[in-house]
Amino acid sequence: MTYSRASTNGPNRRIIILISGGGSNMRAILKTAKRDHWHTRYGAAVAAVVSNQREAGGLVCAQEAGVATHVLSHRDFTDRLSFDLALMRLIDQQDVQGPNQVPALIVLAGFMRILSPAFVSHYAGRLLNIHPSLLPAFAGLNTHQRAIDMGCKFAGATVHHVTAALDHGEIVAQAVVPVLAGDDAAGLAARVLTQEHLLYPQAIAQWLQAKVSQ
Ligand code: GAR
Repeated sequence: MTYSRASTNGPNRRIIILISGGGSNMRAILKTAKRDHWHTRYGAAVAAVVSNQREAGGLVCAQEAGVATHVLSHRDFTDRLSFDLALMRLIDQQDVQGPNQVPALIVLAGFMRILSPAFVSHYAGRLLNIHPSLLPAFAGLNTHQRAIDMGCKFAGATVHHVTAALDHGEIVAQAVVPVLAGDDAAGLAARVLTQEHLLYPQAIAQWLQAKVSQ
């Protein structure tokens, strides 16, 4: 186990999580960050949670965990780029730069928006997503039903860097789950989600470790 650059004398990095719904991946990340002392180990802390849905259940969980929350509804914007530019402003306001501050890691955790190239290039190399399939198979929606319909024997989840091509960025980590006889989409989704909760915090920790080791 490597303990490099404690937050007191090394760089500090904020983590900003974007959600649209229940936020179970967000909760897994918060729990792991606390349990594994990401603050002292990597100088990293979840600083804010942003949702494009006012009613996202994850917002309450984040508040209960003492994390600042923000809502920016895409419905208040006439086009994708205007929303994305406003979202960039909101994120960057949460990423106040001080002497020891390095640019935030942006974590998409069930954030159900296609992002414009301007947004993606602004956060290049520090924008992660989790997708509920074994990419490059089944980019897009309804991944579990599509895997069942294709007769796949295995399904899973992928953590990847976000690029302008939907669900096609460089793969960081994957978890594999068998498709069982009689599986329906909901059952398979629940089993994959359990693995997502292990995979995503682990992939983020690896990303943070790589940064402090550079
Ligand atoms: C997760 O299964 C995640 O992989 C998926 O949405 C769910 C969010 O659950 N993301 C996507 O489909 C992105 N294309 P959560 O809100 O409970 O974390």
